[in-house]
Amino acid sequence: MKEGEKEIELIKKGKRLDGRGFEELRPIKIEVGVLKRADGSCYFEMGNNKVMAAVYGPREMHPRHFQDAKMAVVKYRYNMAPFSVDDRKRPGPDRRSVEISKVSREAFDPVIIKEYYPKTAIDVYVEVLQSDAGTRTAGINAASVALADAGIPMKDMVSSVAVGKIGGEVVLDLSGVEDNHGEADMPIAMVARTDTITMLQMDGHFKKEEFERGLKLAMDACHKIYELQRTALIERYSKSVGEGEE
Ligand code: CDP
Repeated sequence: MKEGEKEIELIKKGKRLDGRGFEELRPIKIEVGVLKRADGSCYFEMGNNKVMAAVYGPREMHPRHFQDAKMAVVKYRYNMAPFSVDDRKRPGPDRRSVEISKVSREAFDPVIIKEYYPKTAIDVYVEVLQSDAGTRTAGINAASVALADAGIPMKDMVSSVAVGKIGGEVVLDLSGVEDNHGEADMPIAMVARTDTITMLQMDGHFKKEEFERGLKLAMDACHKIYELQRTALIERYSKSVGEGEE
């Protein structure tokens, strides 16, 4: 809970403030290939989070001295639009967005087959249009689909969600109010098919048993998200060429 904020009751009659059960995800909506100029793109909603991911590349790396002779360099930029939060967010990078960009990029390290495209850059842009906690996880889910849409060779997709603790209970996929007034928040990213965790962060405290339960909850949810990502891609690519386009 942030300093100076009043404590509020986050659980009433066994339900969360938005009516969800403890192990319930927020509604997810995925649209693939929404940006014409990008090589791959995805619009992703997770409850009140609305994010757009755009992927460009593999393309020539500039400046050249950043090239890697053996593999592609993946760049990931997470950015929050000034209008995405309650108070206007100052535009431009800050410590938080630099950290989120770094951990998100690393979440894709084990899956992107960078060796296929030496000397190139793969640019991943994640723009948060509306935020309600869990934006880095929504961004990773969107980026994963956008990378696949761009045809970037990957061993598999990455799926992501947070678990947390509110009112002493371990719950899945914290909303903004739960994040602000809760006791712990733990975003994870993983390759669902192999149960490989590629990102794990923690803010607050879990007891060992709560951590284990939370991790299982998040991993199970990543399996569900993975299925939704896969379905969205299959639906996009099962349309015949030109269908749905002007
Ligand atoms: O979004 P995520 O949970 O990945 O990251 P966070 O740093 O835990 O931020 C939690 C939430 O706080 C965000 O989703 C935003 O809704 C809010 N936030 C904000 O209102 N203003 C900021 N400058 C940063 C975050």
